[in-house]
Amino acid sequence: MSENKKQSRTVSVIGLGQMGTRLAQAFLAAGYRTTGWNRSAEKTDALVAQGALGAATVADAVAASTLVVVRLPDYGIVRSLLDPVAGSLRGRVLVNLTSGTTEEAGRMADWAAGYGAAYLDGAAMSGTRLVGRPEALFVFSGSPAAFAEHRTVLTSLGNAVHLGADPALAALYDTALFGLAWGALAGFYHAVALVGAEGVDPTAFATVATGHMPFVTSLMADHARQIEDGRYPDDDGTVRVHAAAMQHLLDTSAAQGVGTDVPELVKALLDRAAGAGFGGDGIASVVETIRKGASNV
Ligand SMILES: NC(=O)c1ccc[n+]([C@@H]2O[C@H](COP(=O)([O-])OP(=O)(O)OC[C@H]3O[C@@H](n4cnc5c(N)ncnc54)[C@H](OP(=O)(O)O)[C@@H]3O)[C@@H](O)[C@H]2O)c1
Repeated sequence: MSENKKQSRTVSVIGLGQMGTRLAQAFLAAGYRTTGWNRSAEKTDALVAQGALGAATVADAVAASTLVVVRLPDYGIVRSLLDPVAGSLRGRVLVNLTSGTTEEAGRMADWAAGYGAAYLDGAAMSGTRLVGRPEALFVFSGSPAAFAEHRTVLTSLGNAVHLGADPALAALYDTALFGLAWGALAGFYHAVALVGAEGVDPTAFATVATGHMPFVTSLMADHARQIEDGRYPDDDGTVRVHAAAMQHLLDTSAAQGVGTDVPELVKALLDRAAGAGFGGDGIASVVETIRKGASNV
């Protein structure tokens, strides 16, 4: 096997917390020679017992692979660990799956470039449970060439999506998708409380709710097109009609004695959109109100 071929089968993981360990396990399961480093040795030892190689130092972990994946609590810790070994990153690909801001991602990419390393910033969008399965979403941004070269190994983590050359994109999508997931989950938790007030079991409700989700997600592509065009047909109801329906949800929630904070939030948004002149437009027009910010209707 050529040196290149051998190296493309190796990966190092620095930071073996909950997520780092799951990443390393997924690489191992996909047949990659995986080297792990962790501050406290027990976690490295646990991974070695599963077939990985243990690195005694960060320098050893970097030296072991051309692809170096980092998962730590914050960018400050990433820099404190990598600064002393920065010289040995030359020619390698650094994949940073640590959560952070868009600014931190940009600074990290510049730092890596200064030492001759290709850089990919990334975010694990599906928690630890799904890692290694095709439905686990991992978003990456930064060097397109590095992603193309290592796409196969990164796909062993799940659905690996490259968002573009700007290293900040992964952090941007990370926060945006987090907000999207919470929007859906906040609605779900409210609904569970509401039907629960009438004795409906959460699991029974979840089955029906899950069946409803394909309709909800199907709206996203259509509404994205409307937003791009700046035209909001009322195919899925107008802002005014939805505001009235949201008032029913508010009233029903109050009558059942459950919290109204979630529907109040949506009702306030719909009311602001109607106040800004979008009452007769389709519901995707609320994006115009959101874009202007809360204080500027
Ligand atoms: N787990 C998730 O589902 C999830 C979801 C979203 C975002 N995140 C983000 O993921 C990151 C951490 O992931 P995690 O879930 O793997 O966290 P974790 O289980 O708490 O592990 C933290 C890791 O960082 C290491 N560490 C902490 N301080 C260090 C230092 N000063 N020097 C060297 N190593 C240090 C720990 O080493 P020791 O073992 O020695 O303590 C451990 O390996 C954070 O950015 C977090 O916001 C996690």
